Amino acid sequence: MRYIVFSGGKMERYIIAGKKRLEGKVKISGAKNSVLPLIAASVMNNGVTHIHNCPKIRDVLVMAEIVGRLGGKFFFSGDTLTLFTENIRSWILPEDLTGEIRASVFMTGALLSRFKAAETAKPGGCNIGSRPIDQHLKGFRALGAEVNIRHGAIMASASDLHGSHIFMDMVSVGATINVMMAASMARGNTTIENAAKEPHVVDVANFLNSMGANIKGAGTDVIRIKGVDTLHGTSYAVVPDMIEAGTYMFAAAATKGDVLVKNVIPKHLEATTAKLEEIGCDVEEFDDAIRVSASRRLGRTHVKTQPYPGYPTDMQPQIAVTLALANGTSIVTESIFENRFKYADELARMGACIKVEGNTAIIDGVEKFTGAEVSAPDLRAGAALVIAGLAAEGVTVVDDIVYILRGYEDFDGKLRGLGAEIERVNNAKDIRKFRLRA
Ligand code: EPZ
Repeated sequence: MRYIVFSGGKMERYIIAGKKRLEGKVKISGAKNSVLPLIAASVMNNGVTHIHNCPKIRDVLVMAEIVGRLGGKFFFSGDTLTLFTENIRSWILPEDLTGEIRASVFMTGALLSRFKAAETAKPGGCNIGSRPIDQHLKGFRALGAEVNIRHGAIMASASDLHGSHIFMDMVSVGATINVMMAASMARGNTTIENAAKEPHVVDVANFLNSMGANIKGAGTDVIRIKGVDTLHGTSYAVVPDMIEAGTYMFAAAATKGDVLVKNVIPKHLEATTAKLEEIGCDVEEFDDAIRVSASRRLGRTHVKTQPYPGYPTDMQPQIAVTLALANGTSIVTESIFENRFKYADELARMGACIKVEGNTAIIDGVEKFTGAEVSAPDLRAGAALVIAGLAAEGVTVVDDIVYILRGYEDFDGKLRGLGAEIERVNNAKDIRKFRLRA
């Protein structure tokens, strides 16, 4: 059994010497927001599951550890995660891990499906809003489960799960995935209306079908599920991470670089590509790669985050940082989460001119950023601050990179592969040494 060992604590930082054009090729890993529900869904079968193209990120280990604590076993071999779930006997999630990540909520739907019971603490996750789970619970109840919240824990149980016609009050990626899992072995047919259409929702549906489920319509706003009696093990490759890909596309734009982003599905990035072209980047699409280059100062735009296929909320900090260096005034509207501009103050310390009013940021582009010590408030904002450091004059230190390590595989290594001068450090001595060299 080979386990990956994760470092990456609060003390770790990135230190960056900016003003380097990113150039070259970068290979995108499997999607974080797909592989996490896939690991949860693996507990629905009592066989062996191989998940290929599995990114080595901290959240994957946390989810795999949860499977281990329930009685399952797992090991990594290259980019394949293998899970043995036959001996799982518990449906009570370990509190110390559940609160770490949002994706632990997927275990509720998966355990309810297999054991007709699940007990889990409220999920954790990036602090970008209140992130309620009422739509998840609404779906479970519609399928016949009794769900109570006691001392912050979700207690769900059902003598029998039956099909239902569920209309989501708002488009929710997590609730769509969770209800799809809970309905997979319910008796009869389930329809989910107003379903989320993200590529990772489609990936989870394809994964469940590869285990023997009967799900149609994923990727549209109506998903139909015919309950089956049992699910078997499977071997499945995770879809490429469109958000990781977009992050490198904006890093190329912000540093006026020229980067070929490989192992992507260009269709998943249409909204991002459209915005990059609109602000003046050259974007070239290939079957499984996208090339982004920028040779002059970029222009302004307005962007509003929307459910897929609209502009993704997980790419909001990355475009905001890029627009903060553009020529003109841009407006970024965050319509999915209520608290996703926490990076604005950090960016202002680097010279950005960004004013947040409610769920809108008004950004007056400046000629340059200057390096500073900044803190990553959450996963995508952290990645965006690294992009700012890559573009800035001087040295930038990004603290609290534990958030970034949750969702980006080998982020500093891949950036160094593109010519960035960036290192992971965890003490003042290393920072002094880097500054002397920079
Ligand atoms: C998933 O979060 C992703 N996380 C998020 O990515 C992503 O930003 C989000 O989908 C939207 O694409 C994972 O997949 C682990 P939602 P999720 O349910 O499922 C409200 C990242 O950076 N809502 O689609 O939690 C909710 O408050 C992370 O990788 C309810 O009101 O998002 C939000 O305003 C950040 N009740 C909106 O819906 C519910 O029961 C969309 O949330 C559920 C959601």
